Amino acid sequence: MPRVITIDPEHPDAAALEEAAVVLRRGGLVGIPTETVYGLAGRALDPAVLGRIFAAKGRPTSHPLIAHVEGEAQARVLAANWPDVAARLAERFFPGPLTLIVPRAAHVPLELTGGAETVAVRAPMHAVARALLRAVGEPLAAPSANRYQSVSPTTAAHVVESLGDRVDLVLDAGPCVHGIESSVVDVTVDPPRLLRPGALSVAEVRSVVPELLVQEGLVAKSGAERASPGLDARHYAPRAHVHVAPSQAAAFATVSAAVAAGKRVTLVLHPPIRHPILAGDHLRVIVLPESASGYAAQLFATLHAADAAGSQLIVVEDVPTGEAWLAVRDRLRRARA
Ligand code: TXA
Ligand code: MG
Repeated sequence: MPRVITIDPEHPDAAALEEAAVVLRRGGLVGIPTETVYGLAGRALDPAVLGRIFAAKGRPTSHPLIAHVEGEAQARVLAANWPDVAARLAERFFPGPLTLIVPRAAHVPLELTGGAETVAVRAPMHAVARALLRAVGEPLAAPSANRYQSVSPTTAAHVVESLGDRVDLVLDAGPCVHGIESSVVDVTVDPPRLLRPGALSVAEVRSVVPELLVQEGLVAKSGAERASPGLDARHYAPRAHVHVAPSQAAAFATVSAAVAAGKRVTLVLHPPIRHPILAGDHLRVIVLPESASGYAAQLFATLHAADAAGSQLIVVEDVPTGEAWLAVRDRLRRARA
């Protein structure tokens, strides 16, 4: 198992940060907390390190990584040019849970971008990630610290469970605040386009970019059609089969039938609860928060817990329609693919 160091999320200990920085400078991989999910960090401009990240995740090398930076100035160095929209978004949301797709500067390795002429940049808000970026002094690639196509980690324990010794060191700063990945906006196209709904709401992005193009259910069919590799239909999937029921009544009906057939089931509900809840040996019932952001913060941890409990089926009551729920609906769609 990798070494795990507990670190204060707001006032990170200098010795722990330095230990992580040493691992990174030597070309190692560190599991780091961010405000969205835990990342598998390594030096973003070193092709050998990038190779280790892809191998650790079991992720195809055509899937580009996000370069994590301290702020807009460091991001600009990675970009061939910095569109006006990028400047406006960065001014408002860097640091924060927003990833921008911009034209790639010539020195940015194609291994980072999956061969693309664009590069993803994000300045995380988490104090540990920021302090580590400052200590290392160069951009860090940090995909979610999980094996390819499985549920993103929102705790250090999830990282250890998914990656084991494939990561050299993990900084444990407790659960991630947002619990869902950053929103990805492509500013190389006009109008700018939301590629991945995430922790930063569409409304917030729109407040700066009213013309933002948002398409629900973006799923890549093939490499050529793929606007963003994270859009693969299957992504974020737990081991258990996920069934999204159209209503609470339908969810209870599906659960009853499955339990009667001897299956171990986790039922995930959204308030208000309209049925008496009868949890039992084979049935775990989880009621997630009513708000979209509260729900998102706990969704991945709930899926991880269902797997850990040995559930064979996860029945999720569908969530509300509306843009605030876009990121949650997106992850539920991919979890059941
Ligand atoms: O919240 C996050 O963004 C987390 C934390 C750790 O920072 N990181 C993360 O990284 O989710 P990853 O590698 O799992 O997701 C990166 C996503 C890709 O799936 C893809 O959608 C998009 O960023 N992406 C990266 N480079 C791109 C590019 N050049 N063009 C289009 N999309 C790109
Ligand atoms: Mg991921």
